[in-house]
Amino acid sequence: KKPQLLKGKKVLITAGPTREAIDPVRFVTNHSSGKMGYALAEQAIELGAEVTLITGPVNLTPPLNAHVIPVESAADMHGAVLSQFDSSDVVIMTAAVADYKPKFYHVQKMKKQPGENVIQFERTKDILKELGENKTHQLLVGFAAETNNVEEYARGKLEKKNADMIVANNVTVAGAGFGTDTNIVTIYNKDGSAIELPKMSKADIAKSILAEVSRKQKE
Ligand code: PMT
Repeated sequence: KKPQLLKGKKVLITAGPTREAIDPVRFVTNHSSGKMGYALAEQAIELGAEVTLITGPVNLTPPLNAHVIPVESAADMHGAVLSQFDSSDVVIMTAAVADYKPKFYHVQKMKKQPGENVIQFERTKDILKELGENKTHQLLVGFAAETNNVEEYARGKLEKKNADMIVANNVTVAGAGFGTDTNIVTIYNKDGSAIELPKMSKADIAKSILAEVSRKQKE
């Protein structure tokens, strides 16, 4: 039996992609499979946490005993996260939330036209940033999916979003990032320290992240 390092802690985890609708049959999304977030949910439950999993559309079975809130769009995810934030001790934002959504939703299916088509996009709300501005007692963990300048951008996100930890992955490296069963991450802490982890299964990465979370909960 594992030590119940997060016993009684309320842990909110987001996972998967969002879908931003263009019309009733089309949407914009990304490659997140939900594996990293679901692994975190599973391991947090193993450690005795009460887990709420807010999940975009994925093809995974959520862990037994998780309180699951399914969402589609970034706006849905924003609403769901905010509704759970006050009662959470730890929030881990693993979801790949869209930064932009189509400015206009076409109620009818868009018909083909001759020539090119332009879709205008507008910004979505930055959920992590909003949590950072409003946190009281919560430990806030964000992810950073980068393709270049990983350390610089991760440390920038730590600062700008007022997070306690940023878990950075370079999503261009084989065996890391979207869709894979493994990941390669570095955990950046607010105190400037960093923990570079080797390539491991997403389950083992989740264990390492949660060990760090539980250590911080005790500080
Ligand atoms: O799901 P998998 O296939 O297992 O892939 C895992 C993963 C690559 C999705 C995961 O490891 C990961 O990196 N998740 C973060 C993806 C992301 O959107 O990163 P970002 O650097 O764009 O965003 C930074 C942080 O802000 C993230 O914690 C994100 O959840 C959050 N965010 C982003 C946009 C937005 N509008 N609101 C947010 O809160």
